[in-house]
Amino acid sequence: LGKEMTYLDTTESTQIVAHKLAQEGAREGHIVLANEQTKGKGRLGRNWHSKQGTSISMSLILRPDLSPQKTPQLTLLTAVAVVRALKNQTGINCEIKWPNDVLINGKKLVGILTEMQADPDRVHSIIIGIGINVNQQLKDLDPEIQGLATSLAIEGGKPFERALIVAAVVNEFETLYEHYLTNGFEAIKTLWETYSISVGKYIYARTMREVLYGFAKGITNEGVLLLEDEQGTLHQIYSADIENAS
Ligand code: BTN
Repeated sequence: LGKEMTYLDTTESTQIVAHKLAQEGAREGHIVLANEQTKGKGRLGRNWHSKQGTSISMSLILRPDLSPQKTPQLTLLTAVAVVRALKNQTGINCEIKWPNDVLINGKKLVGILTEMQADPDRVHSIIIGIGINVNQQLKDLDPEIQGLATSLAIEGGKPFERALIVAAVVNEFETLYEHYLTNGFEAIKTLWETYSISVGKYIYARTMREVLYGFAKGITNEGVLLLEDEQGTLHQIYSADIENAS
C-alpha cells in the first residue's frame, strides 16, 4: 500500500482524482493525498471541509477480489485502522459511531467515504476516502459544524505532524487489510465492536421511517447494526442516525 502515490497541493477532491486514476488502471494500493481540497465530498452528498491545509485528505485505491456486498466491511475496517493509528501516533483515544464516524468526546474527527466502480457481481475498484481534522483550531472550523466537529490539535492541545499520521494510518490499514483478505471479517468485526460507542449500550436509531429505541447488540458481517427493542424484537438497521440514550 502506498508504493504508488499521487501527491497534490490543492485539488477539488482526492476522491475524484482517485476515480480517474482507477479508470486509467491505477493499481491496488495507489494513494492520492492532498494538502488541501477545495470541494471535499462527504457522505450523502454533503460537503467535507478541508480547505486550510490543516487536515489530512487521502483516498486509497483498492482492487480486492470481493463481491460488491462486502464493501461495507472495508469501511468498518478503515475506521478501526484510523482509531488504532491515532492511538499509536498521538496517544489520543477515539471511538467509532456506526456506521463510520470516528469521534472524540462525541465530536467528529474523521470522515470515511467508500465508493466503488463495480458490476453487479464484481468489484473493479474501491476508493476509500479518509479525512482527518488535524491542526484546525476552533475558529478554523466552519460555523455550521462548530460544536459537532473537532480536531487532534483541539483535543490534544498541540499541533501534530500530518505526514506521521498518514504513515501510521497506511501501516495500520495494511496490516488489517491483509488479515482481512486472508482470514475474513470476524476479527475486524470484534475490534470494531470494542471501539464502538454504541454496541453494548441503549440507543435511539432514527431511520427514514421511524425512531427505534433499544439495545445495540452488535453488527452483522455485512455491517448492519443489530438493535433489540424492549419487546425483544431484533431489528436490522441498514441506515440511520444513531444517538446514545443516557
Ligand atoms: C463523511 O461524510 O463523513 C465522509 C467524509 C470523507 C472525506 C474524505 S477527505 C478525502 C476524501 N476526498 C473527499 O472528497 N472526501 C474524502
